[in-house]
Amino acid sequence: MNNQAIGIFDSGIGGTSIWQEIAIALPYENTIYLADSKYAPYGKRSADEIIKLSIRNTEKLIDFDCKIVVVACNTATTNAIKVLRERFRIPFIGIEPAIKPAALQTKTHKIGILATQGTLSSELFASTSDLYTDTTEIIEVVGTGLVELIEDGKIHTPEMLSLLTSHLQPMIKKDIDHLVLGCSHYPYLLPVLKKILPKNIQIIDSGEAVAKQTKVILSKNNLLNTNTHEGTHTFYTNKTLAILEGILKNSTTTVNINYLKY
Ligand code: SIN
Repeated sequence: MNNQAIGIFDSGIGGTSIWQEIAIALPYENTIYLADSKYAPYGKRSADEIIKLSIRNTEKLIDFDCKIVVVACNTATTNAIKVLRERFRIPFIGIEPAIKPAALQTKTHKIGILATQGTLSSELFASTSDLYTDTTEIIEVVGTGLVELIEDGKIHTPEMLSLLTSHLQPMIKKDIDHLVLGCSHYPYLLPVLKKILPKNIQIIDSGEAVAKQTKVILSKNNLLNTNTHEGTHTFYTNKTLAILEGILKNSTTTVNINYLKY
């Protein structure tokens, strides 16, 4: 048995979409989530800055005695996970855009990827997408402004609808049949995406796969909590509590939200 928590961090509130999948897949595990909203969005930052912030978040989670760290942010994963794995001794789970399933399933041989500039310009993203460009045209679009609106709680607004429509038009025109959400904030846009996208376009995100992988790695390392009572879920933010409270208000799991100065 191992009561230590699963540590999860993101540039802000988007990684709660990954936390939700982890809480479903691993109901007896305790979790600690760090929302680095003060420094969001990471997508506009340099690789060096993203690495420094990711190290800082990991150190905090290790101070909280976490047994594993889930990097619930595509931008942090693609830019920093290699450094984190070299620097710290605990296991790390990252989140990468799900290019593989989209490339394997596409019928039009055209898939769209919506992600931050930081993710799309990373070496890890380039090496992954290179594996599929022989058979599939990958249409990349930077989701400029989306993370800021989500962090501000402006998901269901005309501003979001219009911004997202302009990001998606080039992909729709190119006849994609799969849209990969390459940022953990974007699953919160599903209701808006469904309003804009033609019905034949399938939306793919990585949340469930990340939760599955977390379970596999905990089990391999003998780190699973064998308790049979529901785990505790503690959230920390270095910005206002209202942002996290807003996004978690419909959660069926009991959550404890705190301010942490860092
Ligand atoms: C961001 O902070 O810019 C987005 C985080 C992500 O890529 O998941």
